[in-house]
Amino acid sequence: MGYKVAVVGATGAVGREMLAILAERRFPADEVVPLASRKSMGVEVSYGDKTLKCKTLEHFDFSDVDICLMSAGGAVSKEWSPKIAAAGAVVIDNSSAWRYDADVPLIVPEVNAAAAAGFRKRGIIANPNCSTAQLVVALKPLHDRAKIKRVVVATYQSVSGAGKDGMDELDRQTKAIYSLQEIETKKFSKRIAFNVIPHIDVFQDDGFTREEWKMVAETKKILDPKIKLVATCVRVPVFVGHSEAVNIEFAEPITADEAREILHSAPGCLVIDRREPGGYVTPHEAAGEDATYISRIREDPTVENGLAMWVVSDNLRKGAALNAVQIAEVLLNRKLIQAKKKAA
Ligand SMILES: NC(=O)c1ccc[n+]([C@@H]2O[C@H](COP(=O)([O-])OP(=O)(O)OC[C@H]3O[C@@H](n4cnc5c(N)ncnc54)[C@H](OP(=O)(O)O)[C@@H]3O)[C@@H](O)[C@H]2O)c1
Repeated sequence: MGYKVAVVGATGAVGREMLAILAERRFPADEVVPLASRKSMGVEVSYGDKTLKCKTLEHFDFSDVDICLMSAGGAVSKEWSPKIAAAGAVVIDNSSAWRYDADVPLIVPEVNAAAAAGFRKRGIIANPNCSTAQLVVALKPLHDRAKIKRVVVATYQSVSGAGKDGMDELDRQTKAIYSLQEIETKKFSKRIAFNVIPHIDVFQDDGFTREEWKMVAETKKILDPKIKLVATCVRVPVFVGHSEAVNIEFAEPITADEAREILHSAPGCLVIDRREPGGYVTPHEAAGEDATYISRIREDPTVENGLAMWVVSDNLRKGAALNAVQIAEVLLNRKLIQAKKKAA
């Protein structure tokens, strides 16, 4: 018997990708139900070669749903995830609402799939922030080999990380510039077209942004609480695909060649690293792909046991929708859930 899967936020940037990935990976679902806000009732979304009509979250009965992929922001998740879990569905949430809750596992399957079994306390599993997901996929195999002490990362995050409104703003501003119209700024704090903005999410008292803090807290929770990390998160005028310039300090020696070899065979990683023009991956090539691409691997001569590298991935896929579907696959493969009996 197959599973019944609900996708909350099905009209959004991540939700649409979730539907595509469930179909692409032939997730064993007998029924997939797209849900969104009241204003989207009846809106059509694609699921493989089928078209489905969105239903309204607030009027939906979750009692025969097995898995709910949630991607409708933190406030919706805070209110709805406990109710959906109480109805007996496992919630896999993309927002930051539950990530730091000690009773909610925060999962990147290539890194800590075994921790998914902890979902029973609340019935919720959290998906990390998009920048964290690709980073820990690249760090984990190196940490296993040479123990990471400290990471310094600068991100170059695409506008789709801010949802469909972010993509619309870059599109509108770019057209306005070419047609000499006035530029309107709504989603981002400054113009994003032909610009970069060193600010994502809210500012904290210590001067870091919440996005930067998330990378620290989530890397510790997923990979190792002993790892020190400092981040600068920057929004760039790219539609899809986050890039990261990463400097890593290890406890033990490791050469660039060794790191390249380890990453070559590591789950979820694809090394493209030729020391010539174009011998590296940019977000344009990573968009629509599943891998975390690693390029520009080199030794950092300014510290003992240091490496520098460039990490790129599709933020809507590995950073969100793909990771969520992979978590659902972990639940099935490890037999952590069974399909509920459905009414005939
Ligand atoms: N974009 C990324 O790279 C990324 C990565 C990791 C995590 N996330 C997280 O994933 C979540 C969704 O992000 P997104 O980029 O897909 O945002 P988005 O494009 O703005 O989509 C938001 C979705 O939530 C739905 N929604 C909003 N209010 C709702 C309500 N009251 N009831 C039901 N549905 C409601 C929207 O439906 P309507 O169309 O009906 O309003 C829409 O489907 C956020 O929590 C975000 O932080 C995003």
